[in-house]
Amino acid sequence: VDLVVKSSGGNASTPIMYGIMHEDINNSGDGGIYAELISNRAFQGSAKFPSNLTGWAGVGGARLSLQRLDKPLSAALPVSVNVAGCGKKVGLENSGYWGIDVKVQKYTGSFYVKGAYDGVFTAQLQSALGKKEVFGSVEVASQSVDGAWTQHNFTLVPTKAAPNSNNTFSITFNSATSGLTNQKFIRFPGGNMLMGNTIDTFWKWNETIGPLKDRPGMAGVWEYQLTTGLGLVEYMEWADDLGAEPILGVWAGLSLDGAFYTQDQTDFAIQYALDELEFLTGDVSTKWGAVRASLGHPKPWKIKYVEIGNEDWLAGRPTSFESYKKYRFPMFLKAFQEKHPDIQIIASPSVFDNMTIPAPAAGDYHPYLTPDQMVSYYSRFDQLSRQNLTLIGEASSTHPNGGLGWDGPLSSNPWWGGSVAEAVFLLGAEKNGDKVIGACYAPGLRNLNRWQWGMTIVQHAADTALTTLSTSWYVWRLLGLHPLKNTLPVTIKEGGINPLFWVAGTSEKNTTVFKAAVYNTTEPVSVSLQFEGHATKGATATLTMLTGPADPYAINDPFTRVNVVKETTSKLTAGDGGVFAFSMPMLSVAVLETDS
Ligand code: AHR
Repeated sequence: VDLVVKSSGGNASTPIMYGIMHEDINNSGDGGIYAELISNRAFQGSAKFPSNLTGWAGVGGARLSLQRLDKPLSAALPVSVNVAGCGKKVGLENSGYWGIDVKVQKYTGSFYVKGAYDGVFTAQLQSALGKKEVFGSVEVASQSVDGAWTQHNFTLVPTKAAPNSNNTFSITFNSATSGLTNQKFIRFPGGNMLMGNTIDTFWKWNETIGPLKDRPGMAGVWEYQLTTGLGLVEYMEWADDLGAEPILGVWAGLSLDGAFYTQDQTDFAIQYALDELEFLTGDVSTKWGAVRASLGHPKPWKIKYVEIGNEDWLAGRPTSFESYKKYRFPMFLKAFQEKHPDIQIIASPSVFDNMTIPAPAAGDYHPYLTPDQMVSYYSRFDQLSRQNLTLIGEASSTHPNGGLGWDGPLSSNPWWGGSVAEAVFLLGAEKNGDKVIGACYAPGLRNLNRWQWGMTIVQHAADTALTTLSTSWYVWRLLGLHPLKNTLPVTIKEGGINPLFWVAGTSEKNTTVFKAAVYNTTEPVSVSLQFEGHATKGATATLTMLTGPADPYAINDPFTRVNVVKETTSKLTAGDGGVFAFSMPMLSVAVLETDS
């Protein structure tokens, strides 16, 4: 062929002659050219492809469920995931688009969290199988605040490239700190449950351990049969998961029908309790320590607190109480002091229940009161001496002011005014933190389908969307999130206690803390606060305040989902003389903590 190309006369050429056609086919966009490594990142769904959890799995035993919250992240993204679990590392992981390639390069990402969490998240890239080798991880301090969605951004640079793409990305967190409050202890197994309805149907610890097929269960004292699947070991594991000190109640020979052990029979109850302690704390060479080891717990637990019985001042009194004072408690105390001298023994009554408790034993006080009574007990613990150590092993506002008290029904739910009154009472207890061992609301949990005792700090149901954090939960949690290392005396320049109640102190972090509650007024209270020697002009502090509606009987309703408690956080700067100034309305609870 012989050709000649002419020097002119042709047509103009298109500048974009060759290109690419693209639609998202074959995961060529999502999972392809679009640089998103997380598959199904926002649970987006449509009529044809409903929202689902494809690509996601729980970490640390966490259970994932999709939810449509009243306040979703955005109108465009109405679905989010609920991560339910309890432990030091729970969360969720994503397997990417059939894997994730991991190189030593910068990865950026973000996730949104709804609600408050006072802890740290870990974002991590790891192999999917086997020992789950970690290629890179980064800690992300929580910025989460109550009631809102908070975005958390992170940058992650792996220290090592993965040999293949069979990897996952995870976000984990410590659910142990996001539970009922900030629990430092867990008192179990009751309460009345420990005592049983009759003298031979008490909570028998040795029937709550081992394979489920060997656990007969027991007649619960709250009108239903118990499996005892939640047995002694499970309680200890729960304490471990929470990082909480166990306060172990041992049966002391009294049942709810008022029957009690004679002096001779009490020896049996004591040996039974000592065996329980050996099961928990004995080394594997002991009879019961070996049983514990055979159940997968070779390492002995530590028990620092043992309570002898439950409310021995109540059932069957006065004769049962006499037996407790006369021989049951003294015999237990002697046996435990001989065998476990390091354990803090707690009597089930307190000095407020007409019992003289010999030091070093402590007592257990159960104020179930009206709000006004709670408030009137703000100074109750001031009268204790250091020889009168007292646990507040159960407490709550149970009845409205001016009602029938125990002659009337219990309230159906914690209510805002009662919760603020609990705060006043607790501030009084915190003031005496050298005598008060600790305090807990009771009962802690209630399935919404059970009505024996409506007053619980958290209510739940099979439908997890019904989980309800009561008005009291907000109060106890706020106080629990700011533990004091020691108290600081407060002098009054103007005004006085009531309607403002308070406690001040320093924290483990050496910050200065002021906790306060307002009850019994119609006007807001102006607070002018100086942390002498701790804060000068220009110092900053964070003020967290809980307020509620004018109606003191308003509740957080599981069914309407109305939450009446409002939590606000603001930054304060100290003015002249290092004074922090703020105002608290009627029925409010606040914590002011210096930033350093
Ligand atoms: O918290 C409910 C019950 O109240 C407990 O079981 C008992 O100790 C108290 O009387």
